[in-house]
This record gives sequence, C-alpha cells and structure tokens, in this order.
Amino acid sequence: MRRASGVFLAALIVVIASGCGTGGPVKGGNASAGRKLFNADARCGSCHTLKDARSSGTVGPNLDAAFAQSKAEDYKLSAIENVVRDQIRYPTTGSGMPANLVKGQQADDVAAYVALCAASTDKQACPGIASAGKGGQGLYASLGCQGCHSLDGSKSTGPTFKGLYGSKVQLTNGKTVTADDKYLLDSILDPDLDVVKGYQPGVMTSVIKKGQVPKDQAQQLVDFIKQQK
Ligand code: HEC
Ligand code: HEC
Repeated sequence: MRRASGVFLAALIVVIASGCGTGGPVKGGNASAGRKLFNADARCGSCHTLKDARSSGTVGPNLDAAFAQSKAEDYKLSAIENVVRDQIRYPTTGSGMPANLVKGQQADDVAAYVALCAASTDKQACPGIASAGKGGQGLYASLGCQGCHSLDGSKSTGPTFKGLYGSKVQLTNGKTVTADDKYLLDSILDPDLDVVKGYQPGVMTSVIKKGQVPKDQAQQLVDFIKQQK
C-alpha cells in the first residue's frame, strides 16, 4: 500500500509539473455518471475498495487510502482526475490492471468520480454519499432490519420506522428520549444500550450484534429512517 501510494504521488507531481497528464487534461467529467460506471461497466470496484462506491476489491490498492494524503493536502481535484485518467489509460504493465476499461467521456466520468469521492466525507460534494438514502434502503433489506421493523406503521418484532425520527421514545429504564440522530445511531451500533418500553433486550442483538454494523453503514440507515415520515 505504501509503495502504491508512492507511485501515485510521483505521478501526481509529474502532472502538476507538466500542467497536464500524458493523455491531456480531463474535460467535464460527470461524477454521477462515473459512480454508476465504477462498479458496472468499468469494473473498477471488482479490484479496488472505494467506500463511497461500497466496493471492496482487494486486487489493487484501496483508493480511499491512495488518495487520502492528496485530499488532506488540498490538491486540485483536476490534478487528481488527471492522475486517475492516466492510470486508466496507462496502468503499470503487468500489474494486472487492464488498460482502457473505459474510454473517452466515460473515462473522464470515472476519473471525476474517483477524484471527488475517494477519501471523501463531504456529503454535499460527493453524489454517492449524498444519495445514501438508496444505500440505506439496500442495507435495510440486506441486513435483515426489514424482518423486524416495518415502514408502514405496523408493529412487528420491533417498533416501526414510520414517524420514528424526531418522536419521543419511552425506554424500559423509565426515561423518555427524542429519537434524534445520535439515539438512532446508538440503537444500531449498540442495540441493547437503550431498550424501547414494551420490548425485550436481546431480540435485536440475536441478529445484529453490538458493533456489527460499521458506522458509515449505520449512518446510512439513520438517513433512511429519517425519510420514513
Ligand atoms: C483487474 C483488477 C483491476 C481493475 C479492474 C482496475 N484496477 Fe486499478 N489497479 C489495479 C492494480 C493491481 C493496481 C496497482 C498497479 C498500478 O499502480 O498500476 C491498480 C492501480 C490503480 C490506481 C493507482 C493507485 C495508487 O495507489 O497509485 C488507480 C487510481 C486505479 N487503479 C484506478 C482504477 C480505476 C478507476 C479502475 C476502473 C476504470 C480500475 N482501477 C480498475 C487493479 C485493477
Ligand atoms: C430480530 C429482530 C430485529 C432485527 C433484525 C433488527 N431489529 Fe432493531 N429493534 C428490534 C427490537 C425488538 C427493538 C426494540 C428493543 C430495543 O430498543 O432494543 C429494536 C429497536 C431498534 C431501534 C430503536 C427503535 C425505537 O423505536 O426507538 C432502531 C433504530 C433499530 N432497532 C434499528 C434497526 C436496524 C437499522 C436494523 C438492521 C441493521 C435492525 N434494527 C434490526 C428488533 C430487531
């Protein structure tokens, strides 16, 4: 990983020094389009981990890690885009990354997406994180939340998510709390921390253990719950 990041930094310095990459500067890449291509046609996600794309490939370097330093140091996005676009055209020979997985406008789109969203925590800027409602909905199904929490107000094994956000929740410890972001996040990260009155501890944790859902996914679920008005 360290070596790969070094490779990246060397390439970035070349780009900055020459003012343009070997393939010419990226023109008008569309990050939203690039996000769709990243896991689909371009297959980048099959080899690279990128948090925003929710990909977990390990054949190539983790792209969040690869670009964390340049992001932290506020390199221009256009410079990073050029590095990614050049990487798509000219991967290290024999490295296993095929050249030109996407070309032309599509390569520009993927480059714009990776530059914007690698190591990004900016929900406004990065389209994937911003549309996390979709991601939360997917997690609601894939993690099995829907087996115990309805969206239509009906009672199931657990309380419904409809109207939950912002409501007052009575707990078994006698306290009443507001179901704000923190409460919901805690309820997912550590389900038995607070137990809703009328329910038993240990039910949710029979499926969702403490710490099982990573924090970024829990946040996506909170965003999803917020939308269930
Ligand atoms: C079949 C596996 C594979 C696929 C598919 C793939 N890569 Fe790679 N990628 C690698 C490997 C292996 C490396 C490390 C060797 C190198 O730097 O050329 C790499 C390196 C990179 C780097 C440099 C990272 C660094 O730390 O310097 C970037 C950026 C990158 N890939 C982006 C992409 C993008 C964008 C796509 C989709 C268009 C993609 N890759 C598709 C395997 C892959
Ligand atoms: C096996 C059933 C079950 C599963 C699966 C389950 N839960 Fe729960 N959940 C419960 C029960 C029962 C409660 C109420 C008791 C408590 O507070 O722990 C609860 C409480 C909650 C609360 C607090 C609700 C309130 O009204 O204050 C949230 C938020 C929550 N669950 C989210 C989730 C999410 C997100 C998932 C999926 C990752 C999930 N749960 C999976 C059973 C489940």
